[in-house]
Amino acid sequence: MKLKRSTASLLYLAATVSLLAQVGLAVKQEDFKTSEQVAFYRRHRAFADGVAKESQLLGKSVSASQTASPYSVLQDSVYLDGHTLVASVQHGTDKVPLKLKVSFLDKGIVRIRGQEADPLKPRFDDTQKLVLRDGGANLKYASAGSLQLTSEAVNGETVHIVSFRDANNTASLRMTERPWTVEYVLNNKPSILLNSKGLFHFEHLREKPGADGEVDGADGAWEETFRSWTDTKPRGPESFGLDISFSGYEHVYGIPEHASSLSLKSTRGGGKDAYSQPYRLYNLDVFEHDLDSPMALYGSIPFMVAHNAESTVGVFWLNAAETWIDVTREKSSTLGNLFRLGTASKEPTVSTHWISESGVMDIFLLPGPSAADLYRQYAELVEQTPLPREFALGYHQCRWNYLDQADVLAVNDKLQEHAIPYDVIWLDIEHTDGKRYFTWDSGKFPDPVAMQKKLAYNGHQLVTVVDPHIKRDTEYRIWKEANDNGYFVKNKEGTDNFQGWCWPGDSNWVDYLNPDAASWISSQFHLDKYNGSTPNLFVWNDMNEPSVFNGPEISMDKDIKHYGGWEHRDLHNIFGMLYHKATADGLRTRESPDKRPFVLSRAYFAGSQRYGAVWTGDNAANWEHLRASIPMVLSNNVAGMHFVGADVGGFFGNPTPELMTRWYQLGIWYPFFRAHAHIDTKRREPWVFGEPYLSHIRNAIRERYRLLPYWYTLFREASLTGMPLVRPMWMEFPKETSMFSEDSSFMVGSAILVVPATDADANQPIDVRLPTQENWYDIHSHATYIAPLKRQFASDLATTLVFARGGSIIPTRERQRGSSELMRRDPITLYVYVSRTGTATGSLYLDDGETYSYQNGAFIERELSFENATLTSRPSPRTKLSPEQLEFLKAMSKVRVERVVIVGMRNPLTKAVVVENGQTRDIELAYAGSKLDSECTIRDPAVLVGNDWEITLS
Ligand code: NOJ
Repeated sequence: MKLKRSTASLLYLAATVSLLAQVGLAVKQEDFKTSEQVAFYRRHRAFADGVAKESQLLGKSVSASQTASPYSVLQDSVYLDGHTLVASVQHGTDKVPLKLKVSFLDKGIVRIRGQEADPLKPRFDDTQKLVLRDGGANLKYASAGSLQLTSEAVNGETVHIVSFRDANNTASLRMTERPWTVEYVLNNKPSILLNSKGLFHFEHLREKPGADGEVDGADGAWEETFRSWTDTKPRGPESFGLDISFSGYEHVYGIPEHASSLSLKSTRGGGKDAYSQPYRLYNLDVFEHDLDSPMALYGSIPFMVAHNAESTVGVFWLNAAETWIDVTREKSSTLGNLFRLGTASKEPTVSTHWISESGVMDIFLLPGPSAADLYRQYAELVEQTPLPREFALGYHQCRWNYLDQADVLAVNDKLQEHAIPYDVIWLDIEHTDGKRYFTWDSGKFPDPVAMQKKLAYNGHQLVTVVDPHIKRDTEYRIWKEANDNGYFVKNKEGTDNFQGWCWPGDSNWVDYLNPDAASWISSQFHLDKYNGSTPNLFVWNDMNEPSVFNGPEISMDKDIKHYGGWEHRDLHNIFGMLYHKATADGLRTRESPDKRPFVLSRAYFAGSQRYGAVWTGDNAANWEHLRASIPMVLSNNVAGMHFVGADVGGFFGNPTPELMTRWYQLGIWYPFFRAHAHIDTKRREPWVFGEPYLSHIRNAIRERYRLLPYWYTLFREASLTGMPLVRPMWMEFPKETSMFSEDSSFMVGSAILVVPATDADANQPIDVRLPTQENWYDIHSHATYIAPLKRQFASDLATTLVFARGGSIIPTRERQRGSSELMRRDPITLYVYVSRTGTATGSLYLDDGETYSYQNGAFIERELSFENATLTSRPSPRTKLSPEQLEFLKAMSKVRVERVVIVGMRNPLTKAVVVENGQTRDIELAYAGSKLDSECTIRDPAVLVGNDWEITLS
């Protein structure tokens, strides 16, 4: 139903007024659906409850063979076709055959796709093209020869078993016929189980019952209303749901974005801390969102990870439509026991129930078994996080809004005056001419190019916001071109542009599903098109869920039409990513040769990591939001969205100086580090709070800059391996069961443990747990702690609790300058934190920070190791001689290691001998400390970062 314009204006006004109101943060629950208000969820719930009831009648303990699932495999329909097992599955009464294809990929990944064998019309299946690496065209499959299909009778039922070798183990996949179930057996244990609860339910496509024909009784199948909106559902029901159980696991993680705990909570069956609603994945602009809630927020990544002390496995549910996930737990379940070889044992189990509204069922099972294996597998599917522009790792200074050109330059000057390094200053929507993106308010910004040149002088960049709604204005070039070319998303009938309200008032939205529209919008970011932009300008995509102020749930109606006639419902969760991609493509190609783009997006999906950073959205200036940012940032990293941060300071409201200080002290450990504030808040740049806060904030920001070489090296690792940048404790300490739900401390890479202070009272001692039989070192004082250790630490406002893990080498740049660009040729300091056995390893990665020439070898990548009191720097095996590499080495020929600090050497050392390029020299060595807290500094060994060398201490 379309709202009348007057109603729309009112709604828009109401949204704006309420947005401008500051106090009493509380989400307007009534704006968003609960699961009970969603017809396809209700239908699956009713189905599931029916199955559960029938299953109970069948026996007390529910195992695969006993569930009342009505779906079975058609006799003689199972065969192995190369790397794919094919089966026809059918519901006992509706008899519509479904074709299931189980493909065996490299690294033990199993893909299960399913839909009607003979669909009435096509289902939306572009998600795979838009999300998977190379559009899914080059997936690596297991060799057909490595697969073996056997079929046997167990308890009178046929079981088909495909045995194969995954990366590490012999694995097998077992499929039962009656009912249809699948078990992924890893290490002889059925680990990931599909339909073992019997909740698989596939709503096949059907003809709409005629006016006098039999009415399809399904609840809300052909029309559904929410408040004043009607979803016309012209295609009828097409949802599907499946239970996926992780047998032997108590913890599951991921599926961002929710303001929830790291270890996901149960959503059914009660229990401690359980939610009463499922986790929802549906990109939404939730104004003043709640904390500790499974409500959908701005991004959706349907990737879930289960971890226990033996292994880490994952499930990637590739679907871009609205999705709900219920989580239940059983302490001891017999799931999967029927087909277990050997004696049945009971396992704790997390069962999840996934339900998507439309599209094709497309699921990937990832066997791990280590986190490193799992992320390699996931990256194989959706790619890694590429190396970002180096400046993007620096500090971002943002506010809604820096008023004008003079304000921008004044902030720039002030930051320099206070010796606070920063890399980027941001302009929110008010910089435009009436929210017409790609334009400037010429009164406030008379000469944006001169402004950017001034910023660039000391290596600073500018980011402008470019939202996806296009003001409906026949005089506005962008609107006119998009309209003339038919690039806008269409209304329900497909006859006219879809129209809605956002910041500029009446707006239209470009349809990025249309490749021509996407490349047209990309080209608008080119220097000759985007007036007033320079190569120092980068972009922020906001409101791209999309946010539509007068739409259902503040978004688009699900039945409006995209390119190819697809409904918005089919692609809602990738809409924001398509815009993110188009923007990144535009920035990448605006210079020749291409340069790495930087684009921040609010909406995201699996695959968004390829296009830039995201942030957690509109948080608030209070301690609860500060705390909540930790699991939110970690959950995104768990789900492969690495480059993420929360608004430092909290978006709504005014932070106290203590909160602001603590937020900077935490924010420097977010991969994406940006301070931001709502238009109605007081100014809060670092100097505003005076001393001692200014000094604390400056120290925090400087710590970020000191560690930029470590951060950049972590991004390099992520770009190769897919490993998260910030990691939950379980990921680094997989056997520390007591830390599996730890979400107030975390690891940055494998070397740094951060225990942030998140309490208003600075005198409140902080609980710290240092795991494993290893030494940990206070990163500031170098005091040694012998783990395992659990104790409280004092943490006044000047103190932050950050520990280096024994056995690691951390590269830093210690000279403080105004921006990362100004530090690029600065010398390196290496901190060697010695393990209990006297060893340490680490790496250092450097490149030009902006081009793609690293792909041709223009980088320095060193493997650093410390053993037998000798520190050695060797090239990584990826280093290859190329003209580009030689050129880069030349550019870096003056960059040396200016200091090596070895922490934790028990014996006093007096001498260091350096060997570089076959030349030997003795150098100065200073030893300080006691047997326990020792520090040994080699001042200026003067070895070059690009050379092979070793330094031996005695
Ligand atoms: C909503 C965004 O989340 C926020 O960061 C931004 O400042 C406002 N839109 C205005 O553009």
